Amino acid sequence: MTALAGKHIVLGLSGGVACYKVAELARLLIKAQATVQVVMTEAAEQFITPVTMQALTGRPVYGSQWDAREANNMAHINLSREADAVLIAPCSADFIARLAQGRADELLSLLCLARPSERVPLLLAPAMNREMWAHPATQRNLAQVQADGATVLGVGH
Ligand SMILES: Cc1cc2nc3c(=O)[nH]c(=O)nc-3n(C[C@H](O)[C@H](O)[C@H](O)COP(=O)(O)O)c2cc1C
Repeated sequence: MTALAGKHIVLGLSGGVACYKVAELARLLIKAQATVQVVMTEAAEQFITPVTMQALTGRPVYGSQWDAREANNMAHINLSREADAVLIAPCSADFIARLAQGRADELLSLLCLARPSERVPLLLAPAMNREMWAHPATQRNLAQVQADGATVLGVGH
Protein backbone atom coordinates (compact mmCIF):
# COMPACT_ATOMS: atom_id res chain seq x y z
CA MET A 1 0.00 0.00 0.00
CA THR A 2 1.48 3.36 -1.02
CA ALA A 3 0.42 6.92 -0.21
CA LEU A 4 -0.85 7.16 -3.77
CA ALA A 5 -3.16 4.15 -3.50
CA GLY A 6 -6.73 5.18 -4.23
CA LYS A 7 -5.78 8.76 -5.16
CA HIS A 8 -7.17 10.23 -8.34
CA ILE A 9 -4.64 12.30 -10.24
CA VAL A 10 -5.43 14.55 -13.19
CA LEU A 11 -2.20 14.37 -15.19
CA GLY A 12 -1.95 17.30 -17.60
CA LEU A 13 0.60 17.22 -20.40
CA SER A 14 1.68 20.40 -22.15
CA GLY A 15 3.97 20.63 -25.16
CA GLY A 16 7.58 19.61 -24.72
CA VAL A 17 9.97 16.78 -25.50
CA ALA A 18 9.67 15.57 -21.90
CA CYS A 19 6.21 14.21 -22.73
CA TYR A 20 7.98 10.92 -23.44
CA LYS A 21 9.02 10.71 -19.78
CA VAL A 22 5.44 11.21 -18.63
CA ALA A 23 4.38 7.93 -20.21
CA GLU A 24 6.63 6.23 -17.66
CA LEU A 25 5.37 8.51 -14.88
CA ALA A 26 1.78 7.50 -15.69
CA ARG A 27 2.79 3.84 -15.56
CA LEU A 28 4.41 4.32 -12.16
CA LEU A 29 1.37 6.15 -10.77
CA ILE A 30 -0.88 3.31 -11.93
CA LYS A 31 1.53 0.79 -10.42
CA ALA A 32 1.25 2.71 -7.13
CA GLN A 33 -2.54 2.14 -7.39
CA ALA A 34 -3.51 5.72 -8.21
CA THR A 35 -6.07 6.36 -10.90
CA VAL A 36 -4.83 8.70 -13.59
CA GLN A 37 -6.93 10.88 -15.87
CA VAL A 38 -4.80 12.36 -18.65
CA VAL A 39 -5.58 15.75 -20.19
CA MET A 40 -3.38 16.95 -23.06
CA THR A 41 -2.90 20.28 -24.78
CA GLU A 42 -2.88 20.37 -28.57
CA ALA A 43 0.90 20.89 -28.47
CA ALA A 44 1.40 17.87 -26.19
CA GLU A 45 -0.28 15.70 -28.83
CA GLN A 46 2.59 16.61 -31.19
CA PHE A 47 5.01 14.90 -28.82
CA ILE A 48 3.13 11.78 -27.66
CA THR A 49 -0.18 10.30 -28.73
CA PRO A 50 -3.36 10.16 -26.66
CA VAL A 51 -3.48 6.50 -27.68
CA THR A 52 -0.31 5.76 -25.70
CA MET A 53 -1.56 7.64 -22.67
CA GLN A 54 -4.98 5.95 -22.83
CA ALA A 55 -3.39 2.53 -23.11
CA LEU A 56 -1.18 3.19 -20.06
CA THR A 57 -3.92 4.65 -17.87
CA GLY A 58 -6.94 2.67 -19.05
CA ARG A 59 -8.93 5.87 -19.51
CA PRO A 60 -9.78 7.93 -22.59
CA VAL A 61 -7.73 11.11 -22.76
CA TYR A 62 -9.35 14.55 -22.75
CA GLY A 63 -8.08 17.35 -24.96
CA SER A 64 -10.94 19.70 -25.68
CA GLN A 65 -13.23 21.85 -23.59
CA TRP A 66 -15.93 21.07 -26.15
CA ASP A 67 -15.84 17.30 -25.50
CA ALA A 68 -19.43 16.06 -25.73
CA ARG A 69 -18.66 12.83 -23.82
CA GLU A 70 -19.56 14.63 -20.60
CA ALA A 71 -23.33 14.71 -20.09
CA ASN A 72 -23.26 18.35 -18.95
CA ASN A 73 -20.51 19.19 -21.50
CA MET A 74 -18.37 20.56 -18.69
CA ALA A 75 -15.26 18.39 -18.66
CA HIS A 76 -13.31 21.16 -16.91
CA ILE A 77 -15.67 21.09 -13.91
CA ASN A 78 -16.13 17.34 -13.72
CA LEU A 79 -12.45 16.45 -14.15
CA SER A 80 -11.18 18.99 -11.63
CA ARG A 81 -13.79 18.18 -8.95
CA GLU A 82 -12.99 14.47 -9.05
CA ALA A 83 -9.25 15.03 -8.58
CA ASP A 84 -7.16 14.68 -5.45
CA ALA A 85 -4.47 16.67 -7.25
CA VAL A 86 -3.73 18.17 -10.65
CA LEU A 87 -0.18 17.53 -11.86
CA ILE A 88 1.07 19.30 -14.98
CA ALA A 89 4.02 17.33 -16.37
CA PRO A 90 5.71 18.44 -18.43
CA CYS A 91 4.73 22.02 -17.78
CA SER A 92 5.79 24.27 -20.66
CA ALA A 93 6.96 27.86 -20.30
CA ASP A 94 3.89 28.92 -22.23
CA PHE A 95 1.60 26.99 -19.90
CA ILE A 96 3.17 28.69 -16.87
CA ALA A 97 2.58 32.05 -18.58
CA ARG A 98 -1.06 31.15 -19.17
CA LEU A 99 -1.52 30.09 -15.55
CA ALA A 100 0.11 33.30 -14.33
CA GLN A 101 -2.40 35.28 -16.34
CA GLY A 102 -5.42 33.20 -15.39
CA ARG A 103 -6.01 32.24 -19.02
CA ALA A 104 -8.66 29.61 -19.77
CA ASP A 105 -8.84 29.30 -23.54
CA GLU A 106 -8.25 25.53 -23.70
CA LEU A 107 -9.23 22.60 -21.49
CA LEU A 108 -6.08 22.18 -19.39
CA SER A 109 -5.67 25.81 -18.31
CA LEU A 110 -9.44 26.08 -17.94
CA LEU A 111 -9.60 23.17 -15.51
CA CYS A 112 -6.66 24.55 -13.51
CA LEU A 113 -8.49 27.86 -13.14
CA ALA A 114 -11.88 26.26 -12.45
CA ARG A 115 -10.68 23.68 -9.94
CA PRO A 116 -11.64 24.03 -6.27
CA SER A 117 -8.19 25.29 -5.28
CA GLU A 118 -8.80 24.95 -1.53
CA ARG A 119 -8.87 21.15 -1.80
CA VAL A 120 -7.28 20.26 -5.15
CA PRO A 121 -3.58 21.20 -5.19
CA LEU A 122 -1.88 22.18 -8.42
CA LEU A 123 1.60 20.70 -8.92
CA LEU A 124 3.82 21.82 -11.79
CA ALA A 125 6.81 19.93 -13.21
CA PRO A 126 8.39 22.46 -15.60
CA ALA A 127 10.60 21.17 -18.41
CA MET A 128 12.39 23.48 -20.80
CA ASN A 129 15.88 24.46 -21.87
CA ARG A 130 18.08 26.55 -19.63
CA GLU A 131 17.52 29.73 -21.60
CA MET A 132 13.73 29.51 -21.36
CA TRP A 133 13.96 28.68 -17.68
CA ALA A 134 16.35 31.55 -16.89
CA HIS A 135 14.37 34.15 -18.85
CA PRO A 136 13.03 36.89 -16.59
CA ALA A 137 9.54 36.40 -18.03
CA THR A 138 9.54 32.72 -17.01
CA GLN A 139 10.90 33.49 -13.55
CA ARG A 140 8.32 36.25 -13.11
CA ASN A 141 5.50 33.90 -14.14
CA LEU A 142 6.79 31.17 -11.81
CA ALA A 143 6.82 33.57 -8.88
CA GLN A 144 3.24 34.55 -9.71
CA VAL A 145 1.90 30.98 -9.94
CA GLN A 146 3.62 30.11 -6.66
CA ALA A 147 2.09 33.18 -5.02
CA ASP A 148 -1.26 31.95 -6.35
CA GLY A 149 -0.76 28.62 -4.55
CA ALA A 150 0.80 26.26 -7.09
CA THR A 151 3.68 24.00 -6.06
CA VAL A 152 6.57 24.07 -8.48
CA LEU A 153 8.60 20.86 -8.56
CA GLY A 154 12.21 20.83 -9.80
CA VAL A 155 12.77 21.79 -13.41
CA GLY A 156 13.87 19.27 -16.05
CA HIS A 157 16.29 20.61 -18.72
C1 LIG B 1 10.59 20.32 -30.83
C2 LIG B 1 10.04 21.26 -29.81
C3 LIG B 1 10.37 21.07 -28.50
C4 LIG B 1 9.86 21.94 -27.52
N1 LIG B 1 10.21 21.71 -26.21
C5 LIG B 1 9.73 22.54 -25.26
C6 LIG B 1 10.08 22.33 -23.91
O1 LIG B 1 10.82 21.40 -23.54
N2 LIG B 1 9.59 23.18 -22.98
C7 LIG B 1 8.77 24.23 -23.32
O2 LIG B 1 8.37 24.98 -22.44
N3 LIG B 1 8.41 24.43 -24.61
C8 LIG B 1 8.86 23.62 -25.58
N4 LIG B 1 8.50 23.82 -26.89
C9 LIG B 1 7.58 24.91 -27.22
C10 LIG B 1 6.13 24.55 -26.88
O3 LIG B 1 5.76 23.31 -27.45
C11 LIG B 1 5.21 25.68 -27.34
O4 LIG B 1 5.49 26.85 -26.58
C12 LIG B 1 3.75 25.32 -27.24
O5 LIG B 1 2.98 26.41 -27.72
C13 LIG B 1 3.30 24.98 -25.82
O6 LIG B 1 1.91 24.80 -25.82
P1 LIG B 1 1.09 24.28 -24.57
O7 LIG B 1 1.62 25.01 -23.39
O8 LIG B 1 -0.32 24.62 -24.90
O9 LIG B 1 1.27 22.81 -24.49
C14 LIG B 1 9.00 22.99 -27.88
C15 LIG B 1 8.66 23.16 -29.22
C16 LIG B 1 9.18 22.31 -30.17
C17 LIG B 1 8.78 22.53 -31.61
